[in-house]
Amino acid sequence: MLDIHSTVSLNDGHEIPLLGYGTWQVEGADCVRGVREALQAGYRHIDTARVYANEAEVGQGLRDSGIPREQVFVTSKINTGDFPRAKAQAALDDSLSKLGLEYLDLYLIHWPQDEHMMEAWEVLQKARDAGRIRSIGVSNFTVERFEKAFFPRTGEVPAVNQIELHPFWTRHALRDYCDGKGIVIEGYSPLARAEKLDDPTLRKIAARHGKSAAQVMIRWQIQQDIVVLPKSSHAERIGQNADVYDFTLDAEDMKTLDALDEGQGVLNWRPKGYY
Ligand code: A2P
Repeated sequence: MLDIHSTVSLNDGHEIPLLGYGTWQVEGADCVRGVREALQAGYRHIDTARVYANEAEVGQGLRDSGIPREQVFVTSKINTGDFPRAKAQAALDDSLSKLGLEYLDLYLIHWPQDEHMMEAWEVLQKARDAGRIRSIGVSNFTVERFEKAFFPRTGEVPAVNQIELHPFWTRHALRDYCDGKGIVIEGYSPLARAEKLDDPTLRKIAARHGKSAAQVMIRWQIQQDIVVLPKSSHAERIGQNADVYDFTLDAEDMKTLDALDEGQGVLNWRPKGYY
Protein backbone atom coordinates (compact mmCIF):
# COMPACT_ATOMS: atom_id res chain seq x y z
CA MET A 1 0.00 0.00 0.00
CA LEU A 2 1.22 3.48 -0.86
CA ASP A 3 1.98 5.97 1.88
CA ILE A 4 3.92 9.20 2.20
CA HIS A 5 7.11 7.18 2.82
CA SER A 6 6.73 5.07 -0.34
CA THR A 7 9.82 4.83 -2.52
CA VAL A 8 10.82 3.20 -5.78
CA SER A 9 14.15 1.48 -6.41
CA LEU A 10 16.64 3.01 -8.79
CA ASN A 11 18.81 0.86 -11.05
CA ASP A 12 21.88 1.72 -8.91
CA GLY A 13 20.40 0.26 -5.70
CA HIS A 14 19.25 3.54 -4.14
CA GLU A 15 15.64 4.33 -3.25
CA ILE A 16 13.82 7.50 -4.29
CA PRO A 17 10.70 8.78 -2.48
CA LEU A 18 7.69 8.79 -4.85
CA LEU A 19 6.51 12.18 -3.62
CA GLY A 20 8.80 15.17 -3.99
CA TYR A 21 8.38 18.92 -3.61
CA GLY A 22 9.01 20.76 -6.89
CA THR A 23 10.63 24.18 -6.53
CA TRP A 24 10.64 25.67 -10.04
CA GLN A 25 9.57 29.34 -9.72
CA VAL A 26 9.55 29.13 -5.91
CA GLU A 27 11.96 31.88 -5.01
CA GLY A 28 13.60 33.73 -2.13
CA ALA A 29 11.88 33.61 1.25
CA ASP A 30 8.94 31.72 -0.30
CA CYS A 31 11.32 28.94 -1.21
CA VAL A 32 12.89 28.73 2.25
CA ARG A 33 9.41 28.60 3.78
CA GLY A 34 7.99 26.23 1.14
CA VAL A 35 10.77 23.70 1.61
CA ARG A 36 10.39 23.87 5.39
CA GLU A 37 6.60 23.46 5.15
CA ALA A 38 6.91 20.57 2.71
CA LEU A 39 9.29 18.76 5.04
CA GLN A 40 7.00 19.48 7.99
CA ALA A 41 4.08 18.09 5.95
CA GLY A 42 5.99 14.83 5.50
CA TYR A 43 7.72 15.20 2.13
CA ARG A 44 11.21 13.71 2.23
CA HIS A 45 12.26 14.69 -1.28
CA ILE A 46 13.05 18.14 -2.67
CA ASP A 47 13.70 18.85 -6.35
CA THR A 48 15.66 21.91 -7.45
CA ALA A 49 17.98 22.85 -10.33
CA ARG A 50 20.81 25.30 -11.01
CA VAL A 51 18.56 27.19 -13.41
CA TYR A 52 15.88 27.69 -10.72
CA ALA A 53 18.42 29.89 -8.87
CA ASN A 54 17.12 28.73 -5.49
CA GLU A 55 19.60 26.09 -4.31
CA ALA A 56 20.69 28.29 -1.38
CA GLU A 57 17.07 28.76 -0.30
CA VAL A 58 16.39 25.03 -0.61
CA GLY A 59 19.38 24.37 1.65
CA GLN A 60 18.17 26.95 4.14
CA GLY A 61 14.65 25.47 4.21
CA LEU A 62 16.13 22.04 4.78
CA ARG A 63 18.19 23.27 7.73
CA ASP A 64 15.24 25.25 9.12
CA SER A 65 13.05 22.15 9.07
CA GLY A 66 15.27 20.41 11.60
CA ILE A 67 14.88 17.15 9.65
CA PRO A 68 18.22 15.31 9.52
CA ARG A 69 19.82 15.71 6.10
CA GLU A 70 20.18 11.97 5.57
CA GLN A 71 16.39 11.56 5.80
CA VAL A 72 15.80 13.87 2.84
CA PHE A 73 16.36 13.06 -0.83
CA VAL A 74 17.76 16.15 -2.58
CA THR A 75 17.95 16.54 -6.37
CA SER A 76 19.53 19.28 -8.45
CA LYS A 77 20.27 19.59 -12.17
CA ILE A 78 23.18 20.89 -14.20
CA ASN A 79 22.27 23.47 -16.78
CA THR A 80 23.24 23.40 -20.46
CA GLY A 81 25.73 26.28 -20.25
CA ASP A 82 27.68 24.33 -17.64
CA PHE A 83 28.13 21.17 -19.72
CA PRO A 84 31.78 21.69 -20.75
CA ARG A 85 33.98 19.61 -18.42
CA ALA A 86 35.62 22.39 -16.40
CA LYS A 87 32.34 24.24 -15.94
CA ALA A 88 30.50 21.07 -14.95
CA GLN A 89 32.95 20.45 -12.12
CA ALA A 90 32.53 24.03 -10.90
CA ALA A 91 28.73 23.79 -11.21
CA LEU A 92 28.62 20.74 -8.97
CA ASP A 93 30.92 22.41 -6.43
CA ASP A 94 28.64 25.45 -6.48
CA SER A 95 25.44 23.39 -6.12
CA LEU A 96 26.83 21.62 -3.06
CA SER A 97 28.12 24.86 -1.60
CA LYS A 98 24.82 26.73 -2.12
CA LEU A 99 22.77 23.84 -0.77
CA GLY A 100 25.21 23.49 2.14
CA LEU A 101 25.43 19.75 1.53
CA GLU A 102 28.28 17.27 1.33
CA TYR A 103 26.47 15.14 -1.22
CA LEU A 104 23.47 15.25 -3.54
CA ASP A 105 21.11 12.30 -3.74
CA LEU A 106 20.54 12.89 -7.42
CA TYR A 107 22.07 15.21 -10.01
CA LEU A 108 20.57 15.43 -13.47
CA ILE A 109 21.59 16.52 -16.94
CA HIS A 110 18.82 19.10 -17.29
CA TRP A 111 18.53 19.18 -21.06
CA PRO A 112 19.62 16.80 -23.83
CA GLN A 113 20.77 19.19 -26.52
CA ASP A 114 24.38 20.24 -26.33
CA GLU A 115 27.62 19.07 -27.86
CA HIS A 116 29.33 19.04 -24.44
CA MET A 117 26.59 17.02 -22.73
CA MET A 118 28.64 13.85 -22.39
CA GLU A 119 31.48 15.77 -20.73
CA ALA A 120 29.01 16.75 -18.02
CA TRP A 121 27.84 13.14 -17.80
CA GLU A 122 31.43 11.99 -17.23
CA VAL A 123 31.91 14.61 -14.51
CA LEU A 124 28.73 13.34 -12.86
CA GLN A 125 29.94 9.73 -13.10
CA LYS A 126 33.24 10.61 -11.44
CA ALA A 127 31.53 12.66 -8.72
CA ARG A 128 29.20 9.74 -8.08
CA ASP A 129 32.20 7.41 -7.77
CA ALA A 130 33.79 9.91 -5.34
CA GLY A 131 30.63 9.94 -3.18
CA ARG A 132 29.56 13.52 -3.91
CA ILE A 133 26.43 12.37 -5.77
CA ARG A 134 24.53 9.16 -4.97
CA SER A 135 22.62 8.78 -8.25
CA ILE A 136 22.87 10.40 -11.67
CA GLY A 137 20.21 10.84 -14.30
CA VAL A 138 18.74 12.98 -17.05
CA SER A 139 15.78 15.25 -17.74
CA ASN A 140 13.69 16.14 -20.78
CA PHE A 141 15.08 13.19 -22.75
CA THR A 142 13.03 11.68 -25.55
CA VAL A 143 13.51 8.21 -27.05
CA GLU A 144 15.26 9.82 -29.96
CA ARG A 145 17.71 11.73 -27.75
CA PHE A 146 18.53 8.56 -25.82
CA GLU A 147 19.08 6.60 -29.00
CA LYS A 148 20.95 9.19 -31.06
CA ALA A 149 22.78 11.39 -28.56
CA PHE A 150 23.22 9.41 -25.36
CA PHE A 151 23.50 5.63 -25.55
CA PRO A 152 25.92 5.64 -28.49
CA ARG A 153 28.32 7.53 -26.19
CA THR A 154 27.99 5.84 -22.79
CA GLY A 155 27.54 2.35 -21.46
CA GLU A 156 25.76 3.58 -18.35
CA VAL A 157 21.99 3.74 -17.99
CA PRO A 158 20.77 6.86 -16.12
CA ALA A 159 18.84 6.26 -12.90
CA VAL A 160 15.96 8.55 -13.90
CA ASN A 161 14.47 10.62 -16.70
CA GLN A 162 12.55 13.63 -15.38
CA ILE A 163 9.87 14.75 -17.84
CA GLU A 164 6.63 16.71 -17.99
CA LEU A 165 3.90 14.20 -17.22
CA HIS A 166 0.22 14.26 -16.27
CA PRO A 167 -3.04 12.77 -17.57
CA PHE A 168 -3.08 15.36 -20.37
CA TRP A 169 0.32 14.19 -21.66
CA THR A 170 0.75 10.52 -20.83
CA ARG A 171 3.79 9.77 -23.02
CA HIS A 172 3.35 6.01 -22.98
CA ALA A 173 5.92 5.27 -25.71
CA LEU A 174 8.67 7.15 -23.85
CA ARG A 175 7.67 5.56 -20.53
CA ASP A 176 7.70 2.06 -22.05
CA TYR A 177 11.15 2.73 -23.48
CA CYS A 178 12.47 3.91 -20.09
CA ASP A 179 10.81 0.96 -18.29
CA GLY A 180 12.56 -1.38 -20.72
CA LYS A 181 15.93 0.16 -19.85
CA GLY A 182 15.31 0.31 -16.08
CA ILE A 183 15.08 4.12 -16.00
CA VAL A 184 12.66 5.47 -13.39
CA ILE A 185 10.34 8.24 -14.62
CA GLU A 186 9.93 11.41 -12.60
CA GLY A 187 6.98 13.59 -13.60
CA TYR A 188 7.34 17.33 -13.37
CA SER A 189 4.44 19.76 -13.65
CA PRO A 190 2.14 16.90 -12.58
CA LEU A 191 -0.69 19.43 -12.12
CA ALA A 192 -0.24 20.67 -15.70
CA ARG A 193 0.63 24.06 -14.19
CA ALA A 194 -2.92 24.24 -12.76
CA GLU A 195 -4.24 24.81 -16.28
CA LYS A 196 -6.45 21.73 -16.39
CA LEU A 197 -7.86 21.60 -12.88
CA ASP A 198 -11.32 22.56 -14.15
CA ASP A 199 -11.49 19.71 -16.64
CA PRO A 200 -14.97 18.17 -16.16
CA THR A 201 -13.79 14.54 -16.33
CA LEU A 202 -11.08 15.18 -13.78
CA ARG A 203 -13.51 17.05 -11.53
CA LYS A 204 -16.05 14.24 -11.70
CA ILE A 205 -13.52 11.66 -10.58
CA ALA A 206 -12.26 14.00 -7.86
CA ALA A 207 -15.79 14.64 -6.58
CA ARG A 208 -16.56 10.92 -6.43
CA HIS A 209 -13.51 10.38 -4.21
CA GLY A 210 -14.09 13.53 -2.13
CA LYS A 211 -10.65 14.82 -3.21
CA SER A 212 -9.43 17.75 -5.32
CA ALA A 213 -8.51 17.58 -9.00
CA ALA A 214 -4.88 18.20 -8.00
CA GLN A 215 -4.93 15.23 -5.63
CA VAL A 216 -6.32 12.98 -8.39
CA MET A 217 -3.55 14.07 -10.77
CA ILE A 218 -0.89 13.28 -8.15
CA ARG A 219 -2.47 9.94 -7.28
CA TRP A 220 -2.61 9.00 -11.00
CA GLN A 221 1.20 9.19 -11.07
CA ILE A 222 2.13 7.52 -7.80
CA GLN A 223 -0.19 4.58 -8.49
CA GLN A 224 2.00 3.92 -11.54
CA ASP A 225 5.23 4.10 -9.51
CA ILE A 226 6.09 7.40 -11.15
CA VAL A 227 7.92 9.92 -8.99
CA VAL A 228 5.73 13.02 -8.75
CA LEU A 229 6.95 16.58 -8.11
CA PRO A 230 4.05 18.96 -7.45
CA LYS A 231 4.94 22.60 -6.87
CA SER A 232 3.09 25.05 -4.67
CA SER A 233 4.06 28.18 -2.78
CA HIS A 234 1.13 27.84 -0.37
CA ALA A 235 1.22 25.82 2.84
CA GLU A 236 -2.37 24.63 2.48
CA ARG A 237 -1.74 23.28 -1.02
CA ILE A 238 1.65 21.83 -0.10
CA GLY A 239 -0.20 19.84 2.57
CA GLN A 240 -3.10 18.98 0.26
CA ASN A 241 -0.72 17.63 -2.40
CA ALA A 242 0.72 15.21 0.16
CA ASP A 243 -2.72 14.11 1.35
CA VAL A 244 -3.20 11.51 -1.37
CA TYR A 245 -2.98 8.25 0.54
CA ASP A 246 -6.57 7.79 1.75
CA PHE A 247 -8.13 6.93 -1.61
CA THR A 248 -7.43 4.71 -4.60
CA LEU A 249 -8.18 5.29 -8.25
CA ASP A 250 -9.65 2.09 -9.69
CA ALA A 251 -8.85 0.65 -13.12
CA GLU A 252 -11.77 2.49 -14.69
CA ASP A 253 -10.63 5.82 -13.19
CA MET A 254 -7.10 5.24 -14.46
CA LYS A 255 -8.38 4.40 -17.95
CA THR A 256 -10.57 7.49 -17.99
CA LEU A 257 -7.69 9.70 -16.87
CA ASP A 258 -5.37 8.19 -19.47
CA ALA A 259 -7.94 9.02 -22.14
CA LEU A 260 -7.47 12.74 -21.34
CA ASP A 261 -4.13 12.57 -23.18
CA GLU A 262 -3.76 15.43 -25.65
CA GLY A 263 -0.39 14.29 -26.97
CA GLN A 264 1.36 17.44 -25.81
CA GLY A 265 2.14 19.20 -22.58
CA VAL A 266 1.42 22.64 -21.20
CA LEU A 267 5.13 23.49 -21.12
CA ASN A 268 5.79 21.10 -23.97
CA TRP A 269 9.55 21.38 -23.83
CA ARG A 270 10.85 18.79 -26.18
CA PRO A 271 13.93 18.67 -28.27
CA LYS A 272 13.61 18.74 -32.02
CA GLY A 273 12.96 15.35 -33.50
CA TYR A 274 10.65 14.28 -30.69
CA TYR A 275 8.47 11.22 -31.12
P1 A2P B 1 0.58 27.91 -6.13
O1 A2P B 1 2.06 27.82 -6.14
O2 A2P B 1 0.07 29.31 -6.06
O3 A2P B 1 -0.05 27.00 -5.10
P2 A2P B 1 2.79 22.03 -11.40
O4 A2P B 1 3.15 21.30 -10.15
O5 A2P B 1 2.08 21.19 -12.42
O6 A2P B 1 3.95 22.76 -12.01
O7 A2P B 1 1.70 23.14 -11.03
C1 A2P B 1 2.02 24.23 -10.24
C2 A2P B 1 0.85 25.18 -10.25
O8 A2P B 1 -0.29 24.55 -9.60
C3 A2P B 1 1.11 26.45 -9.47
O9 A2P B 1 0.46 27.49 -10.16
C4 A2P B 1 0.45 26.20 -8.12
O10 A2P B 1 0.04 27.41 -7.57
C5 A2P B 1 -0.73 25.34 -8.49
N1 A2P B 1 -1.12 24.39 -7.44
C6 A2P B 1 -0.32 23.61 -6.71
N2 A2P B 1 -1.01 22.80 -5.90
C7 A2P B 1 -2.31 23.09 -6.11
C8 A2P B 1 -3.52 22.60 -5.56
N3 A2P B 1 -3.53 21.64 -4.66
N4 A2P B 1 -4.69 23.13 -6.02
C9 A2P B 1 -4.69 24.10 -6.97
N5 A2P B 1 -3.57 24.60 -7.54
C10 A2P B 1 -2.39 24.10 -7.11
